[in-house]
Amino acid sequence: MTTENKSGGFLEQVGLCLSVLFYVLFAWHQWWSGVSPRLIRGSAERDAIHHAHLSIGATLFVILVLMLAMWLFRPGASILERLKGAFSTVTHTAISLFFIFMTFAMLCGLAQAWAKGEETPFLGVFKLPHFLDWSWNTAGYNHSAFSNIASALFLGIVFVYLFTHLRRYVKPGVAVAILLIVHLLVNLPKPPSLHPIAAFGTYVLIPSYYLIALALYSWAKHRRLVYWPVFAVFIGFFMYLPYFAFKVLPPWHQKAAAETVLVESTETLVAARPQAEIFATPEALASAKDEATWCTQCHNATESDTHLLGPNLVGVFNRQAGTVEGYGRYSEAMIKKGLEGVFWTRANLSEFLLHGQEFIPGNLMNQQSDLSDPEKRNQVIDYLEYISSK
Ligand code: HEC
Repeated sequence: MTTENKSGGFLEQVGLCLSVLFYVLFAWHQWWSGVSPRLIRGSAERDAIHHAHLSIGATLFVILVLMLAMWLFRPGASILERLKGAFSTVTHTAISLFFIFMTFAMLCGLAQAWAKGEETPFLGVFKLPHFLDWSWNTAGYNHSAFSNIASALFLGIVFVYLFTHLRRYVKPGVAVAILLIVHLLVNLPKPPSLHPIAAFGTYVLIPSYYLIALALYSWAKHRRLVYWPVFAVFIGFFMYLPYFAFKVLPPWHQKAAAETVLVESTETLVAARPQAEIFATPEALASAKDEATWCTQCHNATESDTHLLGPNLVGVFNRQAGTVEGYGRYSEAMIKKGLEGVFWTRANLSEFLLHGQEFIPGNLMNQQSDLSDPEKRNQVIDYLEYISSK
């Protein structure tokens, strides 16, 4: 998509500027996205980063559409010939797929923001009109899956260019070995509290990308018969990555929500204490809230009728399992548990947070935090009681 014609022309120059702007913004965006999950949801710093994430994403989308339009309407070879060129070698294919997936990923990101009622200011100046009405979940899943495909392709492309241009000085195998060592050295000092998914990404996924890029480069350079299946497996893997990592069902596997059936609790419920009685000091509240921050990457914990990956936790205390209104993505296992009369009492919450899969086999929550310490678990449960009380 980018290389065939090197000679001047106004459009080529504009295209070049757009590409440079695109790569600078993309790198900036990736760095920022990497920083933001470590910050507390709702903090001013995280809000600023989130806003930047949206603005840059919207800007990238506009640039991608402009680049696509330029590619489509550029005079010269027919579209069919150009399409053939765009997929003629492994590098061209990777670049073309990168642009396709990236455009789709950004579109899904916009749809996700719109589904949450957020603005998407273009370069912080004017707003993109809303033109898509996807559910938060559909848009969110696709945004995550396709951004990951695009990022991995991007890494692969950068490496192939590096290998090609440095080949005279260093063999690709040696270059990858050096990259791996540098990558691991840079990432070793990460705190031990590193999230298991982030650890998996850092220590397993990214090194595998390097090795896959090397394998593709040295083994399948110009053999289309080989690289198409490789791309297919690669894309298939990423389409299911949010499922492997967070157990989010891909939109194409989701069924319409069953109607909620309410039953009686099998045990007598002890009403939630008034808020003022739950925590002795403001520090105790702050500490419990801090302990529950981890949960808020998947759960809203403030009054609202919106849900993230998991159901809103306000009011969960003493609620029948699997029955919050408007969520619609409970597993059958969770709904069945509720129908058996299981309500979210202290004991049941404790059991769920400690041995989720034994308590409700096949449930879709992948909490990933270690609450085996009874004190921490109690703090989290206190906090759930607190946000469910008045
Ligand atoms: C990676 C995402 C994720 C994280 C992190 C997470 N949850 Fe969940 N949670 C879910 C999903 C998804 C469900 C729905 C599960 C199902 O239907 O099988 C759920 C369900 C629940 C339920 C049942 C709610 C209901 O309406 O029946 C409770 C309670 C809960 N989570 C508490 C927590 C707590 C407390 C934490 C933090 C310690 C936490 N979750 C962390 C995704 C998550």
